Amino acid sequence: MLIKNIKSLLQTSTPTKALRGKELSELKSIENAWLLIENDIIKNYGSMDSCPNFEGETIDALGKMILPTWCDSHTHLVFATSREEEFEMRLKGKSYQEIAEAGGGILNSAKKLQNTSEEALFKSAWERLNEVIKMGTGAIEIKSGYGLSLDDELKMLRVIKRLKEKSPIPIKANFLGAHSYPLEYKDNHQGYIDLIVNEMLPQIAKECLADYIDAFCEKVAFSVTETEQIIEAGAKYGLKAKVHTNQFNCMGGIELCVKHNALSVDHLEVVNDEEIECLKNSETIATLLPSAPFFLSDPYQPGRKLVDEGVAVALASDYNPGSSPSGNMNFVVSLACVKLKMTPAEAINAATINGAFALELNEEYGSISKGKKANFILTKKISSIAYIPYAFGSNLVDQVIINGKIF
Ligand code: NIG
Ligand code: FE
Repeated sequence: MLIKNIKSLLQTSTPTKALRGKELSELKSIENAWLLIENDIIKNYGSMDSCPNFEGETIDALGKMILPTWCDSHTHLVFATSREEEFEMRLKGKSYQEIAEAGGGILNSAKKLQNTSEEALFKSAWERLNEVIKMGTGAIEIKSGYGLSLDDELKMLRVIKRLKEKSPIPIKANFLGAHSYPLEYKDNHQGYIDLIVNEMLPQIAKECLADYIDAFCEKVAFSVTETEQIIEAGAKYGLKAKVHTNQFNCMGGIELCVKHNALSVDHLEVVNDEEIECLKNSETIATLLPSAPFFLSDPYQPGRKLVDEGVAVALASDYNPGSSPSGNMNFVVSLACVKLKMTPAEAINAATINGAFALELNEEYGSISKGKKANFILTKKISSIAYIPYAFGSNLVDQVIINGKIF
């Protein structure tokens, strides 16, 4: 398939490390371009004055742009039901943390998931996955963490495994048994950690159900020393850490994760100068999830400062029923500009190539380069790159191409 007369072919770089600092502001692109796809692979591209003669299927993209599909490196896409009753409680003044402490929140989702069959979970997750692909997501991470018992964490991870097998886009599974303490372990934290370490992890490893390990390092969830036990136990099975931290409090989670060479630290609504210093001298990616503070009316991540200080920043949706009931990466990119003060180029880089690095998929995804998978978004006719985050709420996606085929 040849696509010609592309107004701008965006993100044609092939970096070997996640972009940071000034690198993030450069969105390498070709104006008035062509793109040649062979099967599911990007074969070649260039500017129209070198367009090859091609007999096969040809698309005229006059006025339209092409960019790589979004790499959404943090989601909780498998869940049983939505939680709009908690949304209404928050609208009346209850906070997310108060609702969680009263047994709502993650425990509410866990109760519902425990009573839902693997088949039903698969079906609803499959619908959500198709929904986000249509909005331009071309690689995704999915966490467990609403099971919170051996059987139910395994059930969730088996659902993710089935999604992986059937999905046209790559999926990475992240084991988040340490999402919250189940009620019966409220006063016996070590008992639950032992369950994760001695029972869940060995079985997960045996069935190859996880690529990464996660924990919710937060006052309402796992302390730094508890999180460290989880990270160390995961490392024994070769699982790198991608960890929820600094959503509400600075407690030392970032320092801990950097010490253990975590692939990413995710959330970062609150982050202090020492933590920024620690991150910028590391390879750990700061994955910012601006739709969570949008939905919870919390302070936003200091995206501008993190970029200026030279931290490698990625953007992800955090799609989940409690704090971000949306997997729309187009909106995430708009929020990153409007609220995190990132530029359109920085936000697009953070949501594509840096997201790919945060999933270790950068060799095949995250940019338009020869030999990578032909996963990209063909926009509607738009006036400039900035129009993408500017026109928030409009659907600017004309076609999503996955593995060389229109999705
Ligand atoms: O990333 N903060 C922890 N976990 C999720 C929310 C989970 C939920 O509320 O169901 C998050 O925001
Ligand atoms: Fe999350």
